[in-house]
Amino acid sequence: MNNNEIIFPDGFIWGASTSAYQIEGAWNEDGKGLSIWDTFSHEAGHVLNNENGDIAADHYHRWQDDLDLIKALNMNAYRFSISWTRILPDGSGPVNQKGLDFYSRLIDRLLGLGIQPYPTLFHYDLPQPLQDKGGWPERETALRFADYAGVVGKAYGDRIQHWITHNEPFVTAFVGYYLGIHAPGIQDMAASLKSIHHLLLSHGLAVRELRRYSRPGTQIGAAINLSPIMPASDSELDHQAVERYDALLNRMILDPLFYGRYPVEIAPLIQSAVTGDLADDLKVMAEPTDYLGVNYYTRTVVQNDPAIPFLEASQVNPPGNEYSMMWEIYPPGLYDLLVRVQKDYKPALILITENGVPVPEDVDFDGRIRDERRIRYLSHHLMQTKKAMDAGIPVKGYFVWSLLDNFEWALGYRQRFGLIHVNFDTQQRTLKDSGLWFSQVARTNRLEDGQKYS
Ligand code: FCB
Repeated sequence: MNNNEIIFPDGFIWGASTSAYQIEGAWNEDGKGLSIWDTFSHEAGHVLNNENGDIAADHYHRWQDDLDLIKALNMNAYRFSISWTRILPDGSGPVNQKGLDFYSRLIDRLLGLGIQPYPTLFHYDLPQPLQDKGGWPERETALRFADYAGVVGKAYGDRIQHWITHNEPFVTAFVGYYLGIHAPGIQDMAASLKSIHHLLLSHGLAVRELRRYSRPGTQIGAAINLSPIMPASDSELDHQAVERYDALLNRMILDPLFYGRYPVEIAPLIQSAVTGDLADDLKVMAEPTDYLGVNYYTRTVVQNDPAIPFLEASQVNPPGNEYSMMWEIYPPGLYDLLVRVQKDYKPALILITENGVPVPEDVDFDGRIRDERRIRYLSHHLMQTKKAMDAGIPVKGYFVWSLLDNFEWALGYRQRFGLIHVNFDTQQRTLKDSGLWFSQVARTNRLEDGQKYS
């Protein structure tokens, strides 16, 4: 025991997260239907170097070895996503038994290894046939999602104790339907607002479906990307910009989930995009859940910027801090965020469902991957997590993004987030130094000064 030691409680959940399209590959095997990411990545110009997830980390064929690696990392939980089109190739209609069997075997083996499965129902890979009928801007898609939730609920509800409905509905709606950077590559504000509404509605409907097939004590929640918003300066205008950004990024999702209402800044926009009475839908969105999944990577610093439509605010990258290839590294933001979420929403439990950092491939001369920056990033974020727990915030678990290096959406394979290195030519897996480090943290429930492990 030394002064730098931080001790997590017994039973703390230590895991890693992945998603189907990012790791599985086998894009057209065993009856799987096409998702929007299959279509999008096969069209030139959407993904860096025109890469795609056809093979990815080949997890569909290597899943048993990968689960052994999770065990070797001493994790007691694993968050993965179910590919909708493996289960329902057309998004609705006939069930593909081979798809159901794949996740059934995965779940059984996890349980056999003493690892709790945390399946996510939707991680960006909408069935292409549903997109062809309009996708998330259509109410119908929410109803089909509920049907799909019923199918997996029925198939696995006897074994699953923790469900996650959606991953990052904001990203699906805004990066997919407004910025057009993710599939389906649409750039239309109204489509994006309709998508938010239907994604949140589908969450509530799915919670109800899953409950029908759950054993008592089963816990359900969603994984939400959240970020503390901070002003670029002390000016009043920048502070007002913070409020607008916060309404869009954080409150637009959390207010409906916890209170069944949209923030005042957002409600008129949604109402103008989605026709009809929203009141009943909002009630469904607020269907009670058991935990909030928090995906945290960075804070968001904003300035007043009249050139930007609607928001009149833009993001700035404050100088002086450390940056990864994607984002500013700002561990105290996690504490700030957890305090704020607890104060404003009071979730019964919180899981950190994603946290991690991309580090460039760095296989050393002896074959080791000395990813010190990742160890530093993770340990500093775990310290902030513990600080929040000591302040009474009910964080029960922490999942690293990600288990394996994988397909990072529009950025392809260059952004390596794994605790485990993947050589994409040979599919060989190598535990990085961060993986070794994490396995000790998970085994001992203890975190010492992160630097010591580098
Ligand atoms: C999150 C996504 C995840 C991965 C990480 C880096 O927004 O949920 O799939 O892309 O970012």
